[in-house]
Amino acid sequence: RSGIPSLHTFTDEEQMLRETVSKFAQDVVGPKVREMDENEQMDPSVIQGCFEQGLMGIETSADHGGAECSFTSAIIAIEELAKVDPSVSVMVDVHNTLVNTVFRTYGTPEQRDKWLPQLAESKLGSFCLSEPASGSDAFALQTRAVKDGDDWIINGSKMWITNSYEAEVFLIFANIDPSKGYKGITCFIATKDMGIQIAKKEQKLGIRASSTCTLNFDDMRVPAANVIGGEGKGYKIAIEILNEGRIGIAAQMLGLAQGAFDRAVPYTFERKQFGQAVGTFQGMAFQQARAAIDLESARLLTYNAARLKEEGRPFTREAAMAKYWASVVAQSVSGQAIEWAGGVGFTRETGIEKYWRDSKIGAIYEGTSNIQLQTIAKFIQKQYS
Ligand code: CAA
Ligand code: FAD
Repeated sequence: RSGIPSLHTFTDEEQMLRETVSKFAQDVVGPKVREMDENEQMDPSVIQGCFEQGLMGIETSADHGGAECSFTSAIIAIEELAKVDPSVSVMVDVHNTLVNTVFRTYGTPEQRDKWLPQLAESKLGSFCLSEPASGSDAFALQTRAVKDGDDWIINGSKMWITNSYEAEVFLIFANIDPSKGYKGITCFIATKDMGIQIAKKEQKLGIRASSTCTLNFDDMRVPAANVIGGEGKGYKIAIEILNEGRIGIAAQMLGLAQGAFDRAVPYTFERKQFGQAVGTFQGMAFQQARAAIDLESARLLTYNAARLKEEGRPFTREAAMAKYWASVVAQSVSGQAIEWAGGVGFTRETGIEKYWRDSKIGAIYEGTSNIQLQTIAKFIQKQYS
């Protein structure tokens, strides 16, 4: 029963999706995980499989080629994929919770008709906010867009952009009027052929199959029709989408922690020392019990935030809590899982050490853990000061 949330009810459709994604993750992604990690490359057949499985338009309406499922369904898919490979999980997460959601929420009918079917069917998306000099301070971005007739000319650089090595559709945040500060930030839709240059592909500690690149824009011409959400509205789009996206990262970290737990615990009941299974020593059993509590708490926070979002209730504080806590749990459970398996846990053979390497990113992207704490603290200050 591992990974089945206990205090939440799921629709039949959501339960079925969990089972389908779990099977896809184990059968199709599973055999590629180690090779993709070692080659630092997402296998094209895995990307294609995600499209074929309907995982690239989970919330997208059926008339736009999507699966028309709930937000919670997207979160379930991210969690199930992360149990097997957090890299594939973040690819699907960014594509759905960040890219598709911008189109679904802020796109004009024409933009939705044009882009959503492509994104559901075959074209991978990237969300380009961070820059070399602006990570946490995202609204200080330096990329500029200047109007030229019916086009915008974009100049600047983006850094650490997930999916960007394979992506064909890019949401780029640029400032059209720096005199207005962050109220000049505008979101543009761009395609690779408009002149997006991949300047550098990062080599990373974890989620190594997920591409992370620096992008340069050198007088890149984008049609005015590709402004999404309105001029000067980009900062609000970015943070409102990130509030949702953070629930996705919480689900990724939850799935990762559960995946490590599921991989290591059975070993502790097979491995015998001093004449008994090592998992039956109280020192080990209590560690596993505490990890189970951590997993349950991360699960409850994550699905609570997802349901609040889905019901149209305030969820920013709960999303920050879920992302913060699931990242803590992912690091601690995957770290302990290595120790539970002893020497073999430290080798590449078991795949357990990879979960730990992959866990570190949870406290960094989509807002560092300090940014989540700052977000939560602002609610406390508002209520009590
Ligand atoms: N929700 C809604 N609105 C928010 C908000 C939130 N959580 N935080 C701030 N805002 C709004 C404020 O209301 C304000 O808007 P108005 O002027 O219209 O009222 C505006 O943003 C500025 O507010 P602040 O001055 O308080 O904000 P700031 O400039 O100090 O920082 C921030 C704002 C950049 C959003 C920062 O809090 C933050 O979240 N930084 C992290 C950036 C981030 O998450 N980047 C992720 C990149 S994508 C990615 O990482 C994907 C991936 O890896 C997979
Ligand atoms: P900094 O902001 O420089 O932070 C450094 C340290 O200072 C952190 O510990 C931070 O918590 C702390 N700090 C900063 N400000 C404060 C404060 N006010 N109070 C307390 N402490 C503070 N970005 C995208 O736009 N799109 C993507 O697809 C994307 N994918 C990514 C994938 C990977 C693998 C990585 C590593 C990053 C990705 N990012 C992406 C960028 C990511 O969102 C940023 O790295 C993150 O927001 C942190 O920014 P930074 O790296 O500049 O760190």
